[in-house]
Amino acid sequence: DANENDDPFIFKYGGIYFPSTHTSPQIIDSVQDFEIRDSDVFLITYPKSGTVWTQQILSLIVNEGHRNGTEEIQNMSRVPWIEYNLSKMDYDSRPSPRLFSSHLPYYFVPRDLRNKRGKIIYIARNPKDVAVSYYHFYKAIKKVKQKKDWETFLDDYLSGKVLSSSWFDHVKGWYTHQEDFNILFLTYEEMKKDLRSSVRQICRFVEKELDEREVDTIVEKATFQNMKQDPLANYTTVPEDTLDVKIATHLRKGTVGDWKNLMTVAQNEKFDKIYSEKMIGVPINFTWDI
Ligand code: A3P
Repeated sequence: DANENDDPFIFKYGGIYFPSTHTSPQIIDSVQDFEIRDSDVFLITYPKSGTVWTQQILSLIVNEGHRNGTEEIQNMSRVPWIEYNLSKMDYDSRPSPRLFSSHLPYYFVPRDLRNKRGKIIYIARNPKDVAVSYYHFYKAIKKVKQKKDWETFLDDYLSGKVLSSSWFDHVKGWYTHQEDFNILFLTYEEMKKDLRSSVRQICRFVEKELDEREVDTIVEKATFQNMKQDPLANYTTVPEDTLDVKIATHLRKGTVGDWKNLMTVAQNEKFDKIYSEKMIGVPINFTWDI
């Protein structure tokens, strides 16, 4: 694939930009052959859409709201990335239900998932807040040498010249191929508005019956404030050569509508125009501000 990205550590494969620090075309290819167990749960997102948040929720649900099973274990290892070799874990020996994370587009995930084996939780976030969150996050990626100003980053994002490529293609791809998979589709904003209800929906989907108290504990442990202070949940212990956590962490603001603080009127108009062109046939009702 032609690589229009000016960061040398980024490679393009199957139309998608990946970090060579974490993966390779061989790894991406091998993911498709990954053998699925019916109990497997895959958390799939475009970056900056609430992945770490949902890793926390999902791992707590599976462990019945208490620390047994999550104690001393980083979120990243509880719900490891299928396409990255960061952790080099032995996925075969993991007990069921196994939990995985992924930023892959629908056409790159394990083939078995398409036969409706395993479960997928897809989280989408309004793309303006994703852009702002991604802009801040990009500043902390160690391998990105040339830090871009907001205007330039926004253009790159809108044309898909960032890691994981186009937000539009990712969300549209997953949304329009929902029928092919066993999938629960949630938005960041609905989680933000009613976390308890989202926790319950995830419980039902992964077939885990929890009592009110257990749900309460999960909601409590998944608030922005609590996660920010929890080193097992906040990704501040990522390998030093990947992210500068003094510049940005995964938990920055955790709000809906932060784009209003950065986007100019002209940028917003351009965004809306591109959105309405690209998202034809995708009736997701994003909340743009709370
Ligand atoms: P902001 O940069 O807007 O604050 P990801 O995990 O996919 O990289 O997404 C990161 C975004 O999710 C960040 O957005 C982060 O603050 C937000 N987030 C993480 N945990 C959260 C929580 N418990 N509640 C709300 N937002 C959360």
